[in-house]
Amino acid sequence: MNSPRLHSEIPPSASRVESRRSFPSTDATLSPKDIYPEWLGDRRFTNLHGSRFAYVVGEMARGIATPQMVVEAVRAGLVGFYGSAGLRPETIAEGLDAIEAGLGKGAPAWGANLIHSPQQPGYERAVVDLFLERGVARVSASAFMTLSKEIVRYSARGLSRAPDGSIGRSTHVFAKVSRAEVARHFMAPAPDKLLKELAAAGDITPVQAELARQVPVAADITAESDSGGHTDNRPAGPLFSSLVQTREEVCTEHGMATDLIRIGLAGGIGTPWAAAAAFQMGAAYILTGSVNQAAVESGLSLEGRKLLAEAGPADVAMAPAADMFEQGVEVQVLKRGTLFAMRGKRMWAIYKARESFEACTPDERKFIETALGESFPDAWAKTKSYMQRANPAELARAEGDPSRQMALVFRRYLFFGAQWAREGDAARLRDYQIWCGPAMGAFNEWVEGSLLEALENRTVKQIAWNMLDGAAHITRMQLLRATGHDVPPSAFAYRPGLFE
Ligand SMILES: Cc1cc2nc3c(=O)[nH]c(=O)nc-3n(C[C@H](O)[C@H](O)[C@H](O)COP(=O)(O)O)c2cc1C
Repeated sequence: MNSPRLHSEIPPSASRVESRRSFPSTDATLSPKDIYPEWLGDRRFTNLHGSRFAYVVGEMARGIATPQMVVEAVRAGLVGFYGSAGLRPETIAEGLDAIEAGLGKGAPAWGANLIHSPQQPGYERAVVDLFLERGVARVSASAFMTLSKEIVRYSARGLSRAPDGSIGRSTHVFAKVSRAEVARHFMAPAPDKLLKELAAAGDITPVQAELARQVPVAADITAESDSGGHTDNRPAGPLFSSLVQTREEVCTEHGMATDLIRIGLAGGIGTPWAAAAAFQMGAAYILTGSVNQAAVESGLSLEGRKLLAEAGPADVAMAPAADMFEQGVEVQVLKRGTLFAMRGKRMWAIYKARESFEACTPDERKFIETALGESFPDAWAKTKSYMQRANPAELARAEGDPSRQMALVFRRYLFFGAQWAREGDAARLRDYQIWCGPAMGAFNEWVEGSLLEALENRTVKQIAWNMLDGAAHITRMQLLRATGHDVPPSAFAYRPGLFE
C-alpha cells in the first residue's frame, strides 16, 4: 500500500485567517496560499455557529447521522446535525447524551433535526420540549410545507434583547427547503396569530413574541436541490437563484435587512467541483448528505456502505416512500446492487392497478410473494399484528378493504428495506433501501484509485477536508482565469489524499 500522501495541512489557525480580513487582490500577485478553505462561504456563518468551515454534515434519519458522526464533524471544524428524525424522544435524548459526552455541554457547531410530523400528534411538541430542556442550540427543520406552532416556539424561545439594542438568538433554526413558497414562511417573521397563541398559552413570553415579529423564523435556509432521500430533484442553480430572489422580496416586504438571512446549498455536493460551484454562486455554506452515509461514523451497516462505495452517479432511482406510499410520494435511493427501487415501483404500479392481492395476475402474485419472502397471507398477518399495537385506527380502516391491506403490506416491505440496510441483514441484501443521491457516485469516481477509495479511510473529516481543500484550489484556478491568466484545464484537477 502506498504511504499516505499528505497535503500541506489545511491552515490551522482562525487567527491567521482573521488577520487578513480583506479579500486578496485579484491581480497577478495571487499565490497558492491566497485562498483558504476557511474563507469559502460566509464568515458570519462560521463565527456565529462556531465552526472553522462553512460546511455542514447534514442530518440523516433514524440515527444514520450518528452522535459519533456529529462529534467527529465538530472536531473537524464542521457543523454536524444529528439524524434524530424518526426516533422516539427517549432515543433522541440518549443521542444528545452521547454528543454532550463527546463534545462537552454547550459546545458549538452542532444541532439536531426536527421533522414535521402532522400524522403523529404530540411528537413535534415532545421533541421541541426535549431540545429546549437540553439546550440544543441548532435545529434543522425538515418536511415543513408551512410553519407549525412548535418550530415557531423553538425559534422564538431563544430571542432576547442585547444591551446594544440588537436582537440576540440562542436557538437557531436551519430550514431545509426545496421551494421558494416554503422558504418564504421561514424567511419572514412568524405570523402574528401563531405568536399570540403561543404567548397566550405561556409557551413564549410577550417580549419573545414582540422580538419574533422583527426577525426571520430561520436565519439559515438550506436550499435542497437533487439529493438522496426526499427530494424534488431540483437543479441547484435555478433553486438557489430563486431563493436569493425570495429573500430580497421577503426582506423588503417586512422591512428587514437582507443580511439577516443566509442561504446554504445542499444536494449533489460530493466533489470539490460541486462545492466550489456552490460557493461561487454565493452559498453561505454547503451541506452534504449522501457522501457521509458511506463514512465510518455512519449508522448504516458495512454491507450497505459497501454497496454505496460501488455506485456511479447514475446508479440512483426514485422509489416509493414507506410512510407516504398511498400518496405516491417518492424518495431517491441507490439502484445498483439492490432490487429495492424496481420492486418498490412495481408494488406501486400493482397497487394502482389492482383492487386486491387476489385480483392480481399469477405473475404479479408471484412477484409480490418473492419480494416479500413469504406468502401474502403471512405478511398480512404480521402487518396486522404490528398495526394492532401501532395504529389500531388505521387497521380498522383496512379491515374489509383489500386495497388498503395491500398498501399496508407493501409499506411494511418498504419500511423493512431501510431497517435491513441499517442492520446489515445479509439475507435481505437485494431489498436494502438506501437513500442516496448522485453526489455519492460522483464522489466514488473522484476518489477511485486514491486513499479515499477505501471505506476505512472515509471519515467525515477526510471527506470534508478533501472537498474543501479541493474547492479552494479550484476557486483559485478560476480566479486566475477570471483575472486574465491562461489556466489550462488540467490545472482544475484535484486528487484526494489523507490529511493528518
Ligand atoms: C440516508 C439519508 C437520510 C436522510 N435523512 C434526512 C432527514 O431525516 N432529515 C432531513 O432533513 N434530511 C435528510 N436527508 C437529507 C440530507 O440531510 C441532505 O440534505 C441531503 O442528503 C443533501 O444532498 P446529497 O444527498 O446530494 O448530499 C437524508 C439524506 C440521506 C442520504
